Amino acid sequence: MFVEILSDYDAVSARAAEIVLAALRRENPVLGCATGSTPIGLYRRLIALGNEEGLDFSRIATFNLDEYVGLPPEHPQSYGRFMREHFFDAAGVDPARVHMPDGMADDLEAACAAYERSIEVAGGIDLQILGIGSNGHLAFNEPGSSLGSRTRVQALTEKTLSDNARFFGEGEAPPRKAVTMGLGTIMEARKLLMLASGTGKAAAVRDALEGPVTAMCPASALQMHPHAHILLDEAAASALAYRHRDGVAEPKR
Ligand code: PGA
Repeated sequence: MFVEILSDYDAVSARAAEIVLAALRRENPVLGCATGSTPIGLYRRLIALGNEEGLDFSRIATFNLDEYVGLPPEHPQSYGRFMREHFFDAAGVDPARVHMPDGMADDLEAACAAYERSIEVAGGIDLQILGIGSNGHLAFNEPGSSLGSRTRVQALTEKTLSDNARFFGEGEAPPRKAVTMGLGTIMEARKLLMLASGTGKAAAVRDALEGPVTAMCPASALQMHPHAHILLDEAAASALAYRHRDGVAEPKR
């Protein structure tokens, strides 16, 4: 794990944009995208850099981590809509190269298997962007998810439902299930880039980075990945017991 601790959210977003751009320089890049509040600053930077430097995002293929079950792609809280609004449309990503898990399929199991196949056909994911839930979830792999899990339907925990309720209107019930890439799927990406910001993530970050590898903290699976890059702001890093620098962890003195 390569852990970088930066001053604040903006610094995390700027550093993340540098790392993503470097990964996109390869031929036919495949980018794994995440939703949530955390990567919004990264997407904003990528769009700005794209405009300044005349970058062409139409060559990239994208795969998103997850989508709610039962929300049509035009629903304001669907992750398909989130991605169009925060990144795809302004960046000029080719809709034909965008892949989202299908939470509306009649046969969800078949749709999950098809999603796995489409990642394979694309040659795998070069760089997967990740957030972390305050309960340690990675994508919608909630605590208890098998470390080898594949794309599947996942029931959401009460913690996740309450964390995400803020995005839904009053009286509007957030979906209780989602389709998510599995931890095993995520672990096959060639590189992982996890971002976390704010004290609300500090305990989950500590458990993920310094705790045991366990299904009870799905983000602890990052410890098993050969190329996991973790960007934290000071607040998200505040519960760490170790000083993480240059790829090593030393006790804080
Ligand atoms: P957030 O969500 O970026 O909105 O905090 C992260 C996550 O739940 O993975």
